[in-house]
Amino acid sequence: MLSVLYSMPSVCPVFHAIYLSCIPDSPTMLSVALSLGAVLVFLLLLVVQRVRTEGAWALWWHDNYLEKLKDFLSGTTRPVRMLRHVQKVAEHGDAQSVLAAVDSYCSNVEWAMNVGDLKGQILDAVVLETRPRYVLELGTYCAYSTVRMGRLLPPGARLISIEMNPDYAQVARKILHHAGLDTQLTLISSDSPSPSCTQGEQPAEGTEQPSAQRRWRLQEALIYTTLHCLQLPLQLFSRNPPNPLGSSLPRDRSSERQQPGKLQTCKVEILVGSTSDLIPQLKKKLDIDTFDFVFIDHWKVSYLKDTKLLEECDLLRPGSVLLADNVICPGAPEYLHYVRTSPRYESQYFPSQLEYLQVEDGMEKSVFLG
Ligand SMILES: C[S@@+](CC[C@H](N)C(=O)[O-])C[C@H]1O[C@@H](n2cnc3c(N)ncnc32)[C@H](O)[C@@H]1O
Repeated sequence: MLSVLYSMPSVCPVFHAIYLSCIPDSPTMLSVALSLGAVLVFLLLLVVQRVRTEGAWALWWHDNYLEKLKDFLSGTTRPVRMLRHVQKVAEHGDAQSVLAAVDSYCSNVEWAMNVGDLKGQILDAVVLETRPRYVLELGTYCAYSTVRMGRLLPPGARLISIEMNPDYAQVARKILHHAGLDTQLTLISSDSPSPSCTQGEQPAEGTEQPSAQRRWRLQEALIYTTLHCLQLPLQLFSRNPPNPLGSSLPRDRSSERQQPGKLQTCKVEILVGSTSDLIPQLKKKLDIDTFDFVFIDHWKVSYLKDTKLLEECDLLRPGSVLLADNVICPGAPEYLHYVRTSPRYESQYFPSQLEYLQVEDGMEKSVFLG
């Protein structure tokens, strides 16, 4: 190695100047420089490995760094980029191909906070086991999980999904439309909550606009590019994690899934607003009695508050099933403590991994006992 480096000036005169400025004049100095370089590469690989395996690093990296940088560089948002990919590669009217398109995009191009395929299989299993007619989803985002549930629901079922970010709700409507699901987007005013079950308004989290994110420096762009390149070898050697449900998954019901071109009869309603505003209005404004199944997947700090709100508003019946995502990463400890210790619930944990990453996560299924 050293002999190759030291013979470079004789190979080409152009290298001579580079050689003089870059190669230290003694083998000792060169060893020091090479060692420092190796340490630097090691540290960068360590950061990349942390990002791939530790929840806090992963979420910081993907949500606070890469997304904002890509928004800045492309002038679009992640949901819009995901929608464009779906419209380009997924077959219109085929929910399964929409899910596959989102999964491949988020595994290979950019991470996103959909429930993902691995935990999606737990969601499928619980939906198939519960066979609900009235479903509530807290947190739509781009409707990946909405499509997942919608494709499994029987004719006449109602799937109501609440999303507080209007831009996400618009993308969700288009993705649901592409998947062939009968979708309606509704804006319900938040000024008249039902007096029987009111709670205070919660802060609108996650509504940061891309324009506020345009403060990136060249230095950060360089770090991003370097780390992104370093991720490639790690991706090559990464394996798909095992199915967390293993043999407890119910039998394959893929034949019941939507076929291309076939009209899906389950009705999806996206409500734009905050869960704390809308939950108290569901009975009156949407003519809902109780929900058979609730998928809880919005901001984790709201899990417990909104579960208590559902109870208070009599929207749960004995036997209603709650399934909460991300109970480990980012984590919902207060919610977990509540459903695991309350005599009103029978709760079960399903270990899994954070969507599209090798980071520990899990889902909690809780049956409301009354
Ligand atoms: C993890 S994402 C949902 C992912 C989606 N369920 C999926 O798997 O495809 C969480 C979403 O909840 C929304 N959200 C968070 N808190 C909310 C609240 N209190 N009311 C309504 N939407 C909320 C966020 O805007 C975000 O789009």
